[in-house]
Amino acid sequence: MTHADQTALVTGANAGLGFDAAAQLGERGYGRVILACRTIEKAKTAREQLVERVGNDVFDVLAIDVSDLDVSKRASQELIEQGRTIDLLVLNAGLARQNLEHTAQGIEMTLAASLFGHHLLTMELLAAGRLAPDAHIVIAGSEGARGDVPTFGLPDYDAVKEAVGGDIDAAMDAVARGDQPAGYSANSTYANAKLWVAWWAAALSRRVPDGMVVVAVSPGSAPGTTFARNISAPMRLVMIPMMKVVGPLFGMAGSIAQGAQRYVDAGDFDTGASGKFWASPPGKAVGPLEVQTQAHFTDETLQEAAWDSVVRLTGAGMPGA
Ligand SMILES: NC(=O)c1ccc[n+]([C@@H]2O[C@H](COP(=O)([O-])OP(=O)(O)OC[C@H]3O[C@@H](n4cnc5c(N)ncnc54)[C@H](OP(=O)(O)O)[C@@H]3O)[C@@H](O)[C@H]2O)c1
Repeated sequence: MTHADQTALVTGANAGLGFDAAAQLGERGYGRVILACRTIEKAKTAREQLVERVGNDVFDVLAIDVSDLDVSKRASQELIEQGRTIDLLVLNAGLARQNLEHTAQGIEMTLAASLFGHHLLTMELLAAGRLAPDAHIVIAGSEGARGDVPTFGLPDYDAVKEAVGGDIDAAMDAVARGDQPAGYSANSTYANAKLWVAWWAAALSRRVPDGMVVVAVSPGSAPGTTFARNISAPMRLVMIPMMKVVGPLFGMAGSIAQGAQRYVDAGDFDTGASGKFWASPPGKAVGPLEVQTQAHFTDETLQEAAWDSVVRLTGAGMPGA
């Protein structure tokens, strides 16, 4: 398959998996690769490094802070005004936060950076007709969302619902604001953000025009990225260095290039792959991509309730809906 006349956009393209994915897209022959980074300076620095690595200047830059809805909207408009049509969206930016933090719009930061700005960007591009008819939308998931990793437990949605008086919409909004009876846990909040990512991909796949592909894809465990800068000292100083050494021996850690390749491969998925969450085989954090089939991923009621919450809190729904 040739990508020479195609344009890809990667968020969080200045570091870790996003940087490597941008390089691989350039190496795979995409005609243009837009480096969408938190600041224009970071994007320009990434561009210089990528031109050097790839040996070909196919890179453009865009500033977007995907945790801020106003900034995401302005950046989307800037992109649209450039008249671009996007063939592949790699919605990779993400982080974890040690303590509960809120965005300017009152959304819990981990969820906002993983999903809310990405949702807004996607809705704006769809509304402007700036996604190709066979566009691929790939959003970063994580094996942590399986809920079976110690300390990465998922919220008990029945308990949250009960705490807010039995209403699922109020429960979803409470979770999105980081307002849960169980209190704040960085790991659980991260796992939950990636669960919403999987739910969002499923819900969006039911809404996009036929021919488009929407998938959540975990890059797998890649402890060599700069992700650890935002996590707790024990995780950063003990767990991550240990994972780098021991992880590869037990199928629990891989390289940045392997992780980034998962996104790039998903850019060639066929429509049958759409709506699914793709990650490592059961009990593993690397290896061939498999559809994740645990009941909490495929629960359409929760998928739709989370979708409705994202639409409510961003003020952006499907065009024409
Ligand atoms: N590494 C792993 O083992 C692993 C496993 C599963 C899933 N993931 C997911 O893979 C993705 C990339 O992670 P990584 O390991 O490559 O981490 P990383 O090295 O920390 O890179 C994260 C990227 O996201 C950007 N970003 C974060 N918040 C942003 C915001 N509000 N607006 C714009 N950009 C923002 C960062 O920009 P700045 O440099 O400006 O902060 C950076 O470019 C994340 O979604 C992560 O959850 C990673």
